[in-house]
Amino acid sequence: MTPNADIRAAESLLAFWADAGVEASYADAPIDRMAEGLAQLSARRAAVSAAIAPSAARVPVKPAGPDISQALAQARALAAAAPDLEALAAAIAGFDGCALKFEGASQSVFSRGRPDAPLMIIGEGPGGDEDRQGEPFVGRAGKLLDRMLTAAGLQDQVFITNTVFWRPPGNRTPTPAEQAVCAPFLHRAIQLVGPRMLLLAGAAAAKSVLRSSEGILAMRGRWFDWKAEEGDLELPALPTLHPAFLLRQPAAKKKAWADMLMLSERLSRPHRSPEEGA
Ligand code: URA
Repeated sequence: MTPNADIRAAESLLAFWADAGVEASYADAPIDRMAEGLAQLSARRAAVSAAIAPSAARVPVKPAGPDISQALAQARALAAAAPDLEALAAAIAGFDGCALKFEGASQSVFSRGRPDAPLMIIGEGPGGDEDRQGEPFVGRAGKLLDRMLTAAGLQDQVFITNTVFWRPPGNRTPTPAEQAVCAPFLHRAIQLVGPRMLLLAGAAAAKSVLRSSEGILAMRGRWFDWKAEEGDLELPALPTLHPAFLLRQPAAKKKAWADMLMLSERLSRPHRSPEEGA
């Protein structure tokens, strides 16, 4: 091959890896991070079991594979035992039942915003910036979300989190199993914050939180009733377009803005008791 052909071949290979979500290279030889993660996992089992509630400690930690029942039982026990948001963040960080934790994420990413916010925003899952900084929606999509919240006068009224708490590799959509094992922590966060309503950013959040298979374009801009799996907590929930989608399709901003105004109008109504509705 001529030197130019070598360069073109190298560029083409790099473009292929970039498309596949590979953003950095640290060594000459490949390393199987998943195998490393599983080894770490067994080493941590004993420590995690000792740190959690006695009934949950009897459930061996196992990242959710095809059968998520053990991981789900443990997530439920850990989430229920968390008395406040700080304890919930620690419980999430120590939870080994979500496979995403062992697929290259550098830390868990739980929340930012007001701990008693009237509005909870739920996104899909952390991306690269969130993985590095440890907070949700801090990258380009998050900055757009912040600008929209500010324009709607809602910037101080939000608590922001995601359906999963570890970055999916290559920013792929989290699987229903990954979302399901994280859901008990999300539900506990809703109980602890006590928002008046939920804003669901994007298809992955709307489908998972509302247990629906409808497309986001059909769901956005309509109010749904979110019901807790256990207990009698119910909240109005509004699906909207994901800010990352708006960055790719700016023409869709008009629809997302209409959703934001609808939300802001409902939030500005006088607060009534839960029995009377939001
Ligand atoms: N997209 C999400 O859904 N959540 C984040 O935290 C960041 C980007």
